[in-house]
Amino acid sequence: PALRLDTISIFPQYFDVLRLSLIGKALAAGLIELHTHDLREFTHDRHRTVDDTPYGGGAGMVMKPEPWGEALDALLGSCPPGTERPVLVFTTPSGEPFTQRVAGQLASAPRLAFACGRYEGIDKRVMVWAREYFEVRELSLGDYVLNGGEVAALAMIEAIVRLVPGVIGNPESLVEESYSPHTEGMLEYPVYTKPARWRGLDVPPVLLSGDHGAVDDWRAARSLETTRARRPDLLGQPPSRS
Ligand code: ADE
Repeated sequence: PALRLDTISIFPQYFDVLRLSLIGKALAAGLIELHTHDLREFTHDRHRTVDDTPYGGGAGMVMKPEPWGEALDALLGSCPPGTERPVLVFTTPSGEPFTQRVAGQLASAPRLAFACGRYEGIDKRVMVWAREYFEVRELSLGDYVLNGGEVAALAMIEAIVRLVPGVIGNPESLVEESYSPHTEGMLEYPVYTKPARWRGLDVPPVLLSGDHGAVDDWRAARSLETTRARRPDLLGQPPSRS
């Protein structure tokens, strides 16, 4: 395969949805490979314990280092000598922001592994230890807190896998996209299709004009307008903190 994905989580079933749709096709075609691992398989007590109370006190639970250590040992064991180890992604709200740029970087790795913790977090020593053996990225999906890293990993996997050559049938759509306003740091312009009039609403006439230069200008103006209104931070303006 062009890309092998491993996930480690206490809810490996979350990743079943990757068998659907475009990514499911890429899996079926052997373009990508998916291996899901249950963190509890790496516990040894009767209750398959993965968490404990935090040193220093406070609410919530922290994921114990030992099961993670054994899971990552097993991941190392799945790398034949002389082959590249996976880039190891820890999904966490305190990670660096996951962006289209990061997706592009990760799409060129031969292997990726996603370690999904619960939001109170994994004992920090796991990340420190892992840096000795893997290229580690701590990544956040956005400035909000999910119950666990699985949904964040799913979103990241979808963004990454669609950039793997062959996954999207028509590579033109990716070429187009890499020059699109969005990757230039702007939001998309609005789009329209037939009919030209629907429930009394007309498609902007310039789009029916056949004047490609005018269409490009109109789209650039709408992109700028939307970006100014919704994401001034993308234009170097101070971010709105709502
Ligand atoms: N786990 C919980 N919230 C998260 C977020 N926003 N990004 C990545 N992982 C998370």
